[in-house]
Amino acid sequence: MAARGRFITFEGGEGAGKSTQIGRLCERLESLGIEVVQVREPGGTALGEEMRRILADTKGDSPTDRAEALLFLAARAQLVEKKLLPALERGAWVVSDRFSDSTIAYQGYGRGLDVEALERMNAFACAGLRPDVTLFLDLPRDVAVSRMRAREIAAGGGPDRIESAGDEFHARVAEGFRRMAAAEPGRFATIDASGGEEAVWEAIWKRLKPLT
Ligand SMILES: Nc1ncnc2c1ncn2[C@@H]1O[C@H](COP(=O)(O)OP(=O)(O)OP(=O)(O)O)[C@@H](O)[C@H]1O
Ligand SMILES: [Mg+2]
Repeated sequence: MAARGRFITFEGGEGAGKSTQIGRLCERLESLGIEVVQVREPGGTALGEEMRRILADTKGDSPTDRAEALLFLAARAQLVEKKLLPALERGAWVVSDRFSDSTIAYQGYGRGLDVEALERMNAFACAGLRPDVTLFLDLPRDVAVSRMRAREIAAGGGPDRIESAGDEFHARVAEGFRRMAAAEPGRFATIDASGGEEAVWEAIWKRLKPLT
């Protein structure tokens, strides 16, 4: 990959602090005069946002596990070719809220689809693009749930949207992320996300600053 920019992805379970830290990172990079392209998955293109709407629609014909995986992959393929590769080529940093590792963790470890098949499909969808650094925000599920509850209450809603079922699913997802991080220690940085916002940020910036 001849890309000159840096490609940074944030991974981890829901409520781990990804959006919070991505906001800080993008602010810091911009203050250093670096062009930043911030994206979220699925989304980031018109087609991808449409996929996001379809995936979030609980009333329609809900996708099967395989169809769900392919929708995520289609959104990713569109994002990579239309937005990420051009941005990296012109020297921008790309910061993505989730990327291919989420497919392996959620659809592979979580839903039980064939991990090796998903890895091949990921490579196909990404046209060879791999993150330079993946920050895995590791947070125990119970802490994440209480943070999300606080977030929902602060936003004026109740805690009802938060899944209370599916603990085993979330445990498998977390195990998937841990295994991937252990298998690729050069790319992954496991960040202890249980500390305060500032402490988590310091750990992230310590890993990324040398790349600036
Ligand atoms: N280090 C922290 N300590 C305590 N609370 C935090 C910390 N980081 C984030 N929060 C709060 O926890 C909640 C979840 O954080 P955030 O939305 O950043 O997580 P996320 O990983 O983006 O979640 P999702 O997967 O749902 O998008 C927010 O209300 C946020 O303000
Ligand atoms: Mg978020």
